[in-house]
Amino acid sequence: MNVILLGAPGSGKGTEAKRLSALTGMKHISTGDIFRAEIAAKTPLGLEAESYISKGNLVPDSVTLNMVKTRLASEKSGLLFDGFPRSLAQAEGLDAWFRETGRKVDAVVFLDVPDEKIIDRLVYRRTCASCGKIYNLKTLPPRKEGVCDSCGGELRQRADDREDVIRQRLEAYRRLTQPLVEYYRKAGVFYSVDGSGTPEQVEAAVAALPGIEKAR
Ligand code: AP5
Repeated sequence: MNVILLGAPGSGKGTEAKRLSALTGMKHISTGDIFRAEIAAKTPLGLEAESYISKGNLVPDSVTLNMVKTRLASEKSGLLFDGFPRSLAQAEGLDAWFRETGRKVDAVVFLDVPDEKIIDRLVYRRTCASCGKIYNLKTLPPRKEGVCDSCGGELRQRADDREDVIRQRLEAYRRLTQPLVEYYRKAGVFYSVDGSGTPEQVEAAVAALPGIEKAR
């Protein structure tokens, strides 16, 4: 079972991927998280990725595809992609690689959230520097300010969650990622879910989809 979570920045892909991965056992692959780990480690890939991410642009397709293929070459479990693919070239590259390796995309779940909610979600997002748990100062605050409820780690704001960078990320999303809705609709694996409810409501809606149930 291989599933793609598709949606605008801030639509809740990371939040729901963590929940669904715990529920189904699928391996959560966030290309954004991988790039941020590479940036923190100051690797050559991280340095290259940072020059794009800090401006709200996508990392080039060839760099991203190679990174995903290298990381997942020997992975045997079902995959839950969060933030990948996000261009037609990446979707076609994933299809070609899946054909070679005997996998297929079973479901693409689009988290539909109105624009007006997106900016608030991103501006108020905080993430645990230790375990990656995602908070929101308005809708999902930690019990103690600046401290992760789960592991006691420090909560930080992402460098690309500044309003000017968010606007550029939304522009890149509309231009390059939104065409994937039509691509996967034609492939017959597309499901749209209302992503504007609570994380629990969104999780229940995604978990009820036919393909996802099979993965449990
Ligand atoms: P990435 O890390 O993938 O960021 P993104 O796609 O912009 O998505 P976000 O992580 O910002 O949001 P999300 O949808 O995961 O929402 P979240 O669950 O955190 O990518 C970052 C950058 O890396 C890109 O801009 C690009 O440069 C590069 N990159 C990554 N992948 C790439 C690729 N494939 N190709 C090229 N470049 C790539 O939730 C957001 C907030 O809302 C949180 O505060 C959360 O608590 C809150 N929230 C979530 N759900 C709910 C809910 N149901 N109700 C209320 N609040 C909620």
